[in-house]
Amino acid sequence: MTAETEALSLDAADAGHRDLFDVPPAQGGDYPEVAYFAGNSLGLRPTATRAELLEDLDAWAALGVEGHLDAARPWLPYHELLTGPASRLVGALPSETVVMNSLTVNLHLLMVSFYRPTRSRHRIVIEDAAFPSDSYAVRSQVAFHGYDAEDAVIRLRPRPGEDSLRTADVVEQLGGDVALVLLGGVNYLTGELMDIPTITKAGHAAGAVVGWDLAHAAGNVPLALHDWDVDFAAWCSYKYLNSGPGGLAGVFVHERHLGTDLPRFEGWWSTEAATRFEMTPESRPPASADAWQVSNPPIFSMSPVRTSLEIFDKIGIEVLRERSVRLTAYLEKLLASLPLQVITPTDPARRGAQLSLRVTGMRAGELSRRLRFGYGVIADAREPDVLRLAPVPLYSTYHDCWRAATALAEVMG
Ligand SMILES: Cc1ncc(COP(=O)(O)O)c(C=O)c1O
Repeated sequence: MTAETEALSLDAADAGHRDLFDVPPAQGGDYPEVAYFAGNSLGLRPTATRAELLEDLDAWAALGVEGHLDAARPWLPYHELLTGPASRLVGALPSETVVMNSLTVNLHLLMVSFYRPTRSRHRIVIEDAAFPSDSYAVRSQVAFHGYDAEDAVIRLRPRPGEDSLRTADVVEQLGGDVALVLLGGVNYLTGELMDIPTITKAGHAAGAVVGWDLAHAAGNVPLALHDWDVDFAAWCSYKYLNSGPGGLAGVFVHERHLGTDLPRFEGWWSTEAATRFEMTPESRPPASADAWQVSNPPIFSMSPVRTSLEIFDKIGIEVLRERSVRLTAYLEKLLASLPLQVITPTDPARRGAQLSLRVTGMRAGELSRRLRFGYGVIADAREPDVLRLAPVPLYSTYHDCWRAATALAEVMG
């Protein structure tokens, strides 16, 4: 059996759900469709998204303002359609979950509530390799409260010669001056899956609030935010959640913070739905994550999130994770003989779908261009030397993995 027929027979035995997605045509190579490994950056479009978005769009044409109540999916309570599946995806209660805004906006809204610095406790812990938006967000929050970001933001670095953070080293940094721990559940660059329950517990023991940026974790790995006692979390929906560029983001606020007097920024969607249209000057926020909403939701942005979450709800993140572990291990095995260093942890319990490769002899951007136009393989480059490949269990195949490894061997060889 050739390596290619082996990949094809693995696909026959362990198929995903590629048929539910629109896979772009390849711009090079021997196959009509791309081998898509950039779902950790922007997920592919579910085929159902177009028709369901058009239904929502046509309700506007047919009903005008009456669509708020009379559309098949009425706009006023539309966001509630997303709450159940989103909460199940991240291991939360529906009351702890809401879909709204973009990720960084949500991180700011949550920090308004959860970053309450005092002179003796004002520091924020992030990863040194945090996604820049998170770094800018926490630095601007610190400055907003009148502190010096150089002093107040603690950046966690791996040990010299290592690429991942060790949980024990993270825990050791959580001193009595830390107000907030805000880490990526899966690091965007290295693909490292953090030990969320252990770090959350350690943060609480140190007296800190613990929040998670789950941009690369939601839809990638199973989560149990409620049981792990996470204070708050936020995630975008355009990566593993396949809701389209700039797709709306999710928010989790733990039950024990709901209905409390935590400060929040409010707008008319922060008040309870039942009395919203009494138009009173003071709000009556519900004891749910809905209280963190500010504006009325953009229905045509919510529509793709709803379609996508239904797919996750039907299949189940646990089932997807099992295929993900098998698929990623297969890609890892194929890459083992190539002149590349995989910087993602080798332990499947410490990573999701993504493998990050450190490349030498060529810039990562040049490598990704050659893969795209020479072989129809779509990978994501982080200059100067990291190439990220994410076999996504919903739509990636073993044959895609074989194509990526074969293309890399030719380009690097
Ligand atoms: C880990 C992480 N945080 C934050 C962001 C920024 O997201 P947004 O532009 O939706 O605010 C991204 C975007 O890729 C990300 O990967």
